[in-house]
Amino acid sequence: MRSATRVAVLTGAGISAESGVPTFRGPGGIWRTYRAEDLATPQAFHRDPKLVWEWYDWRRSVLRTVNPNLGHYALAELEQKKGDGFMLITQNVDGLHNRAGSQRILKIHGDIWWTQCSACREVKSDHRVPLPEIPPRCACGGVLRPGVVWFGESLPERTWQQAQEAAENCDLMLVVGTSAVVYPAAGLAPLAQRRGARVIEINMEETPLSGAADISLRGPSGEILPQLIHE
Ligand code: OAD
Repeated sequence: MRSATRVAVLTGAGISAESGVPTFRGPGGIWRTYRAEDLATPQAFHRDPKLVWEWYDWRRSVLRTVNPNLGHYALAELEQKKGDGFMLITQNVDGLHNRAGSQRILKIHGDIWWTQCSACREVKSDHRVPLPEIPPRCACGGVLRPGVVWFGESLPERTWQQAQEAAENCDLMLVVGTSAVVYPAAGLAPLAQRRGARVIEINMEETPLSGAADISLRGPSGEILPQLIHE
């Protein structure tokens, strides 16, 4: 950690768990209660934009009440220490890394606080909770969609390219709070490793990455990350 000059970090829902944000696959996980096919695919949105937006509006209202935790703050501090040699790649759409002060962020799954017009494609920030109109509309008259990546969609091209570059060029990658089963994000750590980087995983549980990681630290990221970064 001390000698690494180019650090890439990949985060998943687990880093926000201690803030009270539900993860996707563990106990109490979102995909245990809801069917992704009904809510997080382009087909679902096409079929019932109102239902999909009501769900996102509810998730936004939950996120409004939570705060970043010590794990998010530790990564913002690491960015301060490593400067241009730091890149945070997140699968999270909750905006908590921004609120903790991180700036060098690649949001490969988008952001729940963004909207995108289905007609003119314009992406905008929208923090209104609840939304005054569902589904919300763009100034051009088109229906807005949540600015997130859904199942079956490709990742934002430029952002994904930058994430791959960060993985290829880092000498250390931290993989924090992700089940490492959703591709292409899960391919970033193996990519970094093939290019000679060390990989440190931080997770409550074993994942498909644990065996290959150079170091696998088991425990809550809100405790482990501050220790790692301060020692
Ligand atoms: P998952 O819900 O699949 O995995 C969360 C991981 O966090 C699990 O491996 C947990 O063991 C771990 N975890 C839970 N609490 C933790 C804590 N306090 N400290 C450290 N680790 C903890 O979430 P993701 O891997 O982020 O995609 O899921 C990847 C993608 O699948 C999401 O971005 C989302 C989802 O479907 C889209 O919506 C496109």
